[in-house]
Amino acid sequence: MRERLSARQDARVTEIFTAIARTSLLDDRTDLIEAVTTRIDASPDRSTVYLLTDDKGQVLAGNITDAALPLGWSTIAAAELGIPADALYRMFSGPAGQYSLAVGLDDADQEALENIVLGAFGWAALVAGLATVAAGAILATRVQSRLSSAEAAVALVAHGDLSARLPVSGRGDDLDRISTAINVSLVRLEGSVEAMRQVSADIAHDLRTPLNRLRIRIENAAARLADGLPAQDDLAEAIAESDRINETFSALLRIAQIETGARRAQFVAVDLAALMRTMAEIYADVAADAGQTLHPDIAGPARVDGDKELLTQALANLIENAIRHCPPGTTITCAVQRNADRISASVRDTGPGIPVAEREKVLRRLYRLEKSRSTEGSGLGLALVKAVADLHDADLLLADAEPGLRVALLFRRNVRPSGAMAGNMVTPDE
Ligand SMILES: Nc1ncnc2c1ncn2[C@@H]1O[C@H](COP(=O)(O)OP(=O)(O)O)[C@@H](O)[C@H]1O
Ligand SMILES: [Mg+2]
Repeated sequence: MRERLSARQDARVTEIFTAIARTSLLDDRTDLIEAVTTRIDASPDRSTVYLLTDDKGQVLAGNITDAALPLGWSTIAAAELGIPADALYRMFSGPAGQYSLAVGLDDADQEALENIVLGAFGWAALVAGLATVAAGAILATRVQSRLSSAEAAVALVAHGDLSARLPVSGRGDDLDRISTAINVSLVRLEGSVEAMRQVSADIAHDLRTPLNRLRIRIENAAARLADGLPAQDDLAEAIAESDRINETFSALLRIAQIETGARRAQFVAVDLAALMRTMAEIYADVAADAGQTLHPDIAGPARVDGDKELLTQALANLIENAIRHCPPGTTITCAVQRNADRISASVRDTGPGIPVAEREKVLRRLYRLEKSRSTEGSGLGLALVKAVADLHDADLLLADAEPGLRVALLFRRNVRPSGAMAGNMVTPDE
């Protein structure tokens, strides 16, 4: 009996070890470390122990001291692992990708099981055990068939059919909950893939115009050269056009990069009030040159968790828009305000404003109002502001300033954007 129990213990250790080692196939050190630390967090009593080291023996994660563990299986006293108990640990140690991983399980479970099985309740336990096995078998077949349909749905998704959904029995059990959560994610995934498809089609369409202009310039130059005429002007224009196309691509890539959300990891506390004050100072002269007045309207400090560089860029885009798209005589106000649960950073102007019907559209990449086509710019300023707002879990609001336009970024107070992610899984809010 003891043998069978320790075989079970070994099987469990092997299972954990392979599950973690599989993560290392992805070749991402951070993922591997996270896989180990998550498991460590889940075993605060150290009944399961882990040690992950790199090729130089440096400890990357672990909840035991770095004992000299032999490769393969070993049975080691808790004290040797730096654990103040008299349990014995069954350890397995081996390579996980280019790292070394040791996983161990204490014998507490085993002891408890032995006591039950071999103790005074031996027979009762045996009968109860058999009943459990029988009930388990019945349940297992039922669960098995539900799992098979779930598997079939996942296979459909894997083959690109994002409209497939996992079956939900309506019993409200664990399987139902997981299926529902996955289905909610699938709805979102389907939505974003469709949106992405649309965006790429729009971009491809919008980039045809500058590429055509480039082609025409080059054709003109070629024709002039064939006639023995100078072609410097057309060539200079062609170069300028290709520079603009280049810049447009960089800006598009930058927005796509922001949308991955990777920069959330580097968020720090940023004082929006100080940032806006600096931007207002920098742009006051530019506005004055354009015959406009720019002034700040800023209360006390207003801290948000964020990416300072991107927030600076977003505020600059809003101020530049007010300067560029408004006539001389316009007043531009750069405001930061706080209330109980929001912090708003806004730029308001007394210019021509944006018609209600166009306010959603100007947030799209490359979209510009008809009348703005002759001004400098590529229609990516507000798309970047939108991406920065989403990254910060902030709302972007375009409103009538009567007259003029007011663009506001509304940040939630005391809510870390990264924390909001988990909530989004079960409460789709878009
Ligand atoms: N403050 C503003 N007043 C009037 N129109 C604006 C203002 N800001 C933006 N717009 C309109 O929204 C369009 C998109 O803005 P944006 O994405 O920054 O692109 P760009 O400034 O490069 O044209 C602009 O082309 C312009 O038509
Ligand atoms: Mg702009």
